[in-house]
Amino acid sequence: MQTNLNLDRFISRYVTKRPKSLLTDDFLKYNTELNKRINGKKVLVIGGAGAGTIGSSYIKAMLKFKIAKLVVVDINENGLTELVRDLRSSEGYNIPNDFFELGT
Ligand SMILES: NC(=O)c1ccc[n+]([C@@H]2O[C@H](COP(=O)([O-])OP(=O)(O)OC[C@H]3O[C@@H](n4cnc5c(N)ncnc54)[C@H](O)[C@@H]3O)[C@@H](O)[C@H]2O)c1
Repeated sequence: MQTNLNLDRFISRYVTKRPKSLLTDDFLKYNTELNKRINGKKVLVIGGAGAGTIGSSYIKAMLKFKIAKLVVVDINENGLTELVRDLRSSEGYNIPNDFFELGT
């Protein structure tokens, strides 16, 4: 049986028990400044394929902005494939046309 698990909703309801991230208010408060500093930038993430950990969380945070180019390097090629599948099947991410994932 296949279930459609929304990981963010699951974590919010059962793990953190908070309806929104602790960072939400800060992101709203500094939205203009963050957009100014991040939009149009080229981003390189080494070790970005760890599912649900720092690298992939950083990538997801960056893709809320309009970055010009994203390069993700990781020794875990399956993790890279999963990351790309996750990003492409999720809503709300601005995936740049210049998006590369490189296995080492
Ligand atoms: N998770 C935490 O709470 C936490 C807290 C503080 C610091 N850190 C540190 O942050 C770093 C990342 O933590 P994480 O939890 O995301 O780890 P993780 O193991 O989930 O992710 C690390 C990623 O780096 C990749 N990697 C390993 N060696 C590589 C190499 N030579 N080239 C390219 N990719 C490589 C792995 O395949 C993996 O996808 C670690 O150094 C960890 O000690 C983590």
